[in-house]
Amino acid sequence: SASDELFVRKPRPPYIPGQIPDPDYVRIFDTTLRDGEQSPGATLTSQEKLEIARMLAKLGVDIIEAGFPIASPDDFAAVKQIADIVGNEVFDDGYVPVICGLSRANPKDIERAWDAVKGAKFPRVHTFIATSPIHMETKLNKTPDEVVEIAVNAVKFAKSLGCNDIEFSPEDAGRSEPEFLYRILSAVIEAGATTLNIPDTTGWNMPWEFGNLIKSLRENVKGADKVVFSTHCQNDLGLATANSLAGALNGARQLECTINGIGERAGNASLEEVVMSLALKGNDMFKGGPGTGKLYTAINPVHITPTSKMVSEYTGMVCQPHKAIVGANAFQHESGIHQDGMIKNKSTYEIMTPESIGLMRGDAQSGAGIVLGKHSGRNAVGTRLRELGYDLDIDKLNAVFERFKQVAEKRKGGLEDEDLEALVIDQAGMSNM
Ligand code: KIV
Repeated sequence: SASDELFVRKPRPPYIPGQIPDPDYVRIFDTTLRDGEQSPGATLTSQEKLEIARMLAKLGVDIIEAGFPIASPDDFAAVKQIADIVGNEVFDDGYVPVICGLSRANPKDIERAWDAVKGAKFPRVHTFIATSPIHMETKLNKTPDEVVEIAVNAVKFAKSLGCNDIEFSPEDAGRSEPEFLYRILSAVIEAGATTLNIPDTTGWNMPWEFGNLIKSLRENVKGADKVVFSTHCQNDLGLATANSLAGALNGARQLECTINGIGERAGNASLEEVVMSLALKGNDMFKGGPGTGKLYTAINPVHITPTSKMVSEYTGMVCQPHKAIVGANAFQHESGIHQDGMIKNKSTYEIMTPESIGLMRGDAQSGAGIVLGKHSGRNAVGTRLRELGYDLDIDKLNAVFERFKQVAEKRKGGLEDEDLEALVIDQAGMSNM
């Protein structure tokens, strides 16, 4: 199909902290194991975290944020295990994922995060402090000058431990004063930060606001060309994916996201939505940053469905049926008009194939296909019957279809193949009477 041609994958550029050799390449930073695990009730065991980390690496994510090591001894152990094992394994296209640990901007947290990740081939420490007026005044009780000093000292401290891949996040950047962001971000670059992650912590920004924020940071932060800009968008207004893409449009080349969009409150940008948007539209849409604007990632989308299922099972966070890409209904077609179109040409109502994200069409368990329910038309019913071996003439099909409509009207969830067969047998019995 046309969509499958877009998945011809370009090679992943070599990993260099703070630089991307190809300006069209977008790094995918997955925080399912950190921000995702912060979903209420989503606690994971160390073994489950290890399995998810392996799956994320197989999927092709560039950076795995494995947890928040200072949070508990279990968290520390889980991050360390992932760093020591997955952080030294060579995956599909010969790459080894970066393993990252989160820390607040203080020496104790940073040391713990570094101790947890340093066994990886590519270890990263991610440190953060809030920069919005409301967070600085009421949560931290610090002046802006004090916050800049804490941030700079945190980055310098991480560097002094031997860490050369340091991500800094100004928490609640989406509600921070741009001038203050220019100042603190310029200062942390000078101190040694290599990735600047811009969180819309409360999901407050509109896509155009967030895109403009990234653009203005790239233009006004001193040393901006020496670092990679990143997005971290929460989903409080349902805009996390749109905001992340607006960031990419304006030059962000790392996007933070989670499988199934899980995370604090309304969740995070969903990896599958961000990645499939870039896979389908990245080839001509993203001209606001460096490079040609033909953006690509190294994600192999055929692993999306198995990864989504594993995360859902281990966290107990079930996706809503209409969740984009991975919801049970994402490739289901019920109305007669849609089913008729699908039978003639699948691209009439599908912009990507289920197979391209690892969902097999025709597998009864897969959730991909035509649902025969009260909105279905004669063509869909006739086609399914022919697939089941019943080639009815037009009068018989009309009679079965009439009966089908009566039953489907009362049946939530549609009719199964056995139900259709029963209708055919019934109709044959009646016509012999
Ligand atoms: O939402 C947020 O601001 C965060 C940061 C720590 C990146 O999770």
